[in-house]
Amino acid sequence: MRRLVYILALVGGIVLLTGCNEKKADLPQPEEATMQDGTYEGLGEGRSGMIKVAIEVKEHLITAIRILSQSESKFAQPAEQQIIDAVLKKQTTEGVDAISGATLTSNGMLAAIGMAINASKGVEQEEAAYTDTSCDIVVVGAGGAGLTAAVQASSMGANVIVLEKQGIIGGNTNYSTGGLNAAETSVQQKLGIEDSKQSHFDDTMSGGHYLNDPSLVATLVDKAAAVVDWLISLGADMSDVGKMAGSSQSRTHRPAGGAAIGPHLMSVLSKAVQAENISIRTRNTVTALTEKDGKVTGVKVNTTKGTYTIQAKAVIIATGGFGANLSMIEQYRPELKGFNTSNHHGATGDAFEWVTALQVPLIQMEQIQVHPTGETGSHLLITEAVRGNGAILVNSEGVRFANEMWTRDKLSDAILAQTGKSAFIVFDQSVRESLGAIENYAQQGLLTTGNTVSELAQALKLPVSAFVATMDAYQAYQATGEDPDFGRKAEEMPRPLSQAPYYAIHVEPVIHHTMGGIKINSKAEVLNEAGDAVPGLYAAGEVTGGVHGGNRLGGNAVADIMVFGQIAGASAARFVLP
Ligand code: FUM
Repeated sequence: MRRLVYILALVGGIVLLTGCNEKKADLPQPEEATMQDGTYEGLGEGRSGMIKVAIEVKEHLITAIRILSQSESKFAQPAEQQIIDAVLKKQTTEGVDAISGATLTSNGMLAAIGMAINASKGVEQEEAAYTDTSCDIVVVGAGGAGLTAAVQASSMGANVIVLEKQGIIGGNTNYSTGGLNAAETSVQQKLGIEDSKQSHFDDTMSGGHYLNDPSLVATLVDKAAAVVDWLISLGADMSDVGKMAGSSQSRTHRPAGGAAIGPHLMSVLSKAVQAENISIRTRNTVTALTEKDGKVTGVKVNTTKGTYTIQAKAVIIATGGFGANLSMIEQYRPELKGFNTSNHHGATGDAFEWVTALQVPLIQMEQIQVHPTGETGSHLLITEAVRGNGAILVNSEGVRFANEMWTRDKLSDAILAQTGKSAFIVFDQSVRESLGAIENYAQQGLLTTGNTVSELAQALKLPVSAFVATMDAYQAYQATGEDPDFGRKAEEMPRPLSQAPYYAIHVEPVIHHTMGGIKINSKAEVLNEAGDAVPGLYAAGEVTGGVHGGNRLGGNAVADIMVFGQIAGASAARFVLP
């Protein structure tokens, strides 16, 4: 296959970022080429955030286009479908016009599909034959933690290069849906929600079975409210606040209408990165850290054009966890063999090898979170916010078997004890309308629908009378605010599930978050076996261990990557700047 090459700097050509002192390049059009069979992904920027799509190519034709993640409003859905239909008809994005009234969403869709088509033709991003260079700070990983660290460090005056091994930025943040946990925020105050940092601390420690490092948790809950304001100042919409399992109060912040948080934050952070003129080098894979006398001095980088070295005064590791490295998962937790994962395929835990020479311990590696509700076919995560906004779980006998707001570990165990080790998450039109994220699931064809409860039972092949009785009983519990079966609290049953149509998604527990990793302190400094900070080395996000203990609460991952991303950026900047 002829390999065609052009420069596509970042996410569907929306944001072109080059080296610290490099010039922006024009984007030559790729030549015509044949699409090769397979599945290809692409990313573009819509109205409210990044849109990620996958195209299926069979016998050199696009046979399907699926939206994998996005934060667009449900009003954009018809426009997205029209774009998909038009591309399927023409087999190209060329000549497909944006839909009137939804120009930004249309352009994001077209950029994402175009990127995927180019990938199917072997059109690749070129690494610009990088040579040895130097800068103040190298950030490894261009997900939420990495970009937050980069923006923070750059805003303090440091010269930053971000390296990303994938062809697109975002990592698992692209898929993040539920929101960002923070207490005592300006948004909660406006909405009249009473909450406290102490309660956030207590919930996080209790949810993590007190295996968390209390100093890291104290930092997390203390800084999260300021991070919400910082994100708002960068243009983020954090105006919707919901309740996730294990949280005593509504403290999970997300865009209006309950849209997915991750694609939205990546869009906000991409713009901040661009404003700071920070260099992001995608498809640049770090293979090792360099060090002298125990002090980190830079990184070795591999590209398809060869290897090179960056000398840096500090390195921030923000490479994410190892949730997609199933052999590593099995190594630490043999009983998880055979589980599917909700993680993007780059979450392979590469960074753990780099730090062994510096005697950095990896802690709590066996603490691997299984999320109760991954869709059984795609393994796409069905956000906990669906339950938070009122959905229930039933088994294949049509009956509830758990408090749907139990923490993830407990609820996953309950599902695994059911016939088929799976369940149905069931909700009504009012829940659907309360949470924009559900439109993504609808677009991907994951919803089974019934105009009545009985119709839904038939569509799901559940015993009709048992399912109808379950729904009737739940409505009565919701009305009285008491769930005698499983103790779901009144405020955790916000809707009666009585507004047709009714919906269900078939779900199973999936590997979701790896809570162990590199040991850090509350300044995001990486610690060695002796407990001393390794000079010049910082880490943030899922690559670190200790924040979440034995079980992470929904909404705390986004808080973690933002809070410790910002701290890592600030600590590294203070270290390198005079
Ligand atoms: O269920 C979810 O939306 C997941 C959120 C999280 O892992 O924080």
